[in-house]
Amino acid sequence: MSSIVIYFSRNGENYFGGVLKNIEKGNTEVIAEYIQELDNADLFKVEPAVEYPADYMECIDVAKKEQQADKRPEIKETLESIESYDTVYIGFPNWWGTLPMPMFTQLEQLDFTGKTVNPFVTHEGSGFGSSLKDLDKLCDGAEIKKGLSIPDASVYDAKDRVKGWINE
Ligand SMILES: Cc1cc2nc3c(=O)[nH]c(=O)nc-3n(C[C@H](O)[C@H](O)[C@H](O)COP(=O)(O)O)c2cc1C
Repeated sequence: MSSIVIYFSRNGENYFGGVLKNIEKGNTEVIAEYIQELDNADLFKVEPAVEYPADYMECIDVAKKEQQADKRPEIKETLESIESYDTVYIGFPNWWGTLPMPMFTQLEQLDFTGKTVNPFVTHEGSGFGSSLKDLDKLCDGAEIKKGLSIPDASVYDAKDRVKGWINE
């Protein structure tokens, strides 16, 4: 059984434990790397061609406008196929209630028929928001398993939770 983690994560100024801080590694990336280690999964990071502002408030603004316009921002590199994987972990921060728009750009390119999808989200209080509904559409043909929702303040304490979830 082979697996891959497709994820988005932004470093720069971000909430961490309820406080705005400059972080070198995004919260979702921390979880993605646990999965890489615990399930021997490959990693694919979805990166926008034009980086989001490091400044948190500016980023919030750009992301909101993008979502309102239902944009598909260009991404640096596109994962062309998930044919060789059975299990696909999809990880993202909750951005305005759902996945960041570059994840739509990437996921819409892939054929999810017959795949098992394990979604995970990091957030500042809203959990998955409406992202699971969006994932239903984005991962047409996949079986979407119970997701894992991790508050941003606790990503560095979440390894055991991630382990339990993988083994469910
Ligand atoms: C543009 C933007 C929008 C966000 N919107 C929400 C939100 O609607 N609800 C929420 O709980 N957290 C929200 N957050 C907080 C992030 O989901 C949270 O800090 C997450 O762990 C960041 O993950 P990352 O470091 O992997 O990018 C938002 C953060 C950003 C930058």
